[in-house]
Amino acid sequence: MAKIIGGVATTHVPSIGKAIADKRYDHPYWKPFFQGFDYVHQWLAREKPDFAVFFYNDHGLNFFLDKLPTFAVGAAKEYRNEDEGWGIPVARPAAGDPDFSWHLINALVADEFDITMCQDMLIDHAVTIPLELMWPGAWPVRIVPISINTVQHPLPSMARCLKLGRSVGRAIESYPQDLRVMVVGTGGLSHQLDGTRAGFINKEFDQLCLDKIVDEPDTLTRYSIHDLVALSGAQGVEFLNWMAMRGALTGQVTQAHRNYHIPISNTAAATIVLDNRAESARKAA
Ligand SMILES: [Fe+2]
Repeated sequence: MAKIIGGVATTHVPSIGKAIADKRYDHPYWKPFFQGFDYVHQWLAREKPDFAVFFYNDHGLNFFLDKLPTFAVGAAKEYRNEDEGWGIPVARPAAGDPDFSWHLINALVADEFDITMCQDMLIDHAVTIPLELMWPGAWPVRIVPISINTVQHPLPSMARCLKLGRSVGRAIESYPQDLRVMVVGTGGLSHQLDGTRAGFINKEFDQLCLDKIVDEPDTLTRYSIHDLVALSGAQGVEFLNWMAMRGALTGQVTQAHRNYHIPISNTAAATIVLDNRAESARKAA
């Protein structure tokens, strides 16, 4: 059976892609952020995932304001990279696995999540930048992209995204192949790109979210979407992707790594690694 080994969550700011292209890893502005991935690289080398299930938000590439699914799941053999004009290099396609995707889709619909299923799906910087941060130069995993609407209101609640993740987690663990699966949440943390609060960052709220998401993710569901916009900025709502990632960790969860650095391009940049130990293994220990 497939096993969930853990989760990684990270910021996906487009300018990170430009910094990678320009190899600015040791530049004083970027070093505190890139250094946060040293541990991630060690963790991935040790854990060797076969699959990465991505919770992210599409930035107008597949879905625009005229048609915007709340949740959409990819079921393609590969996912080609496009972006919306930030000048970052177009990355290689990411490999998919329709059989695994359809297993998740069937399980989600059976679990009463009315998702949009996408046999053709483009990915943007919200997937390619985290892939390149985790595996510079080559991506040795197959992916399932799961897009969450963080763009046009009404957005799904924190509770709904946590439940989505839990449903995905149960689906992963019911897949009959012996695969090692990691889950990824991208975006955030606090930032606002437009309006009178452009540049808004809330370190105190970010730290609270980073603390609670490890052991007490349900306590974060008391924040409404409007609370989240007020506390973390209009684009800080990308934290919904982190909630879904955390929901998919079905076992005993511990924080293996955490990095927080402000600002990167007007955004609070954060990276976490969470280990997931199966409940059965914990009880047997
Ligand atoms: Fe974003």
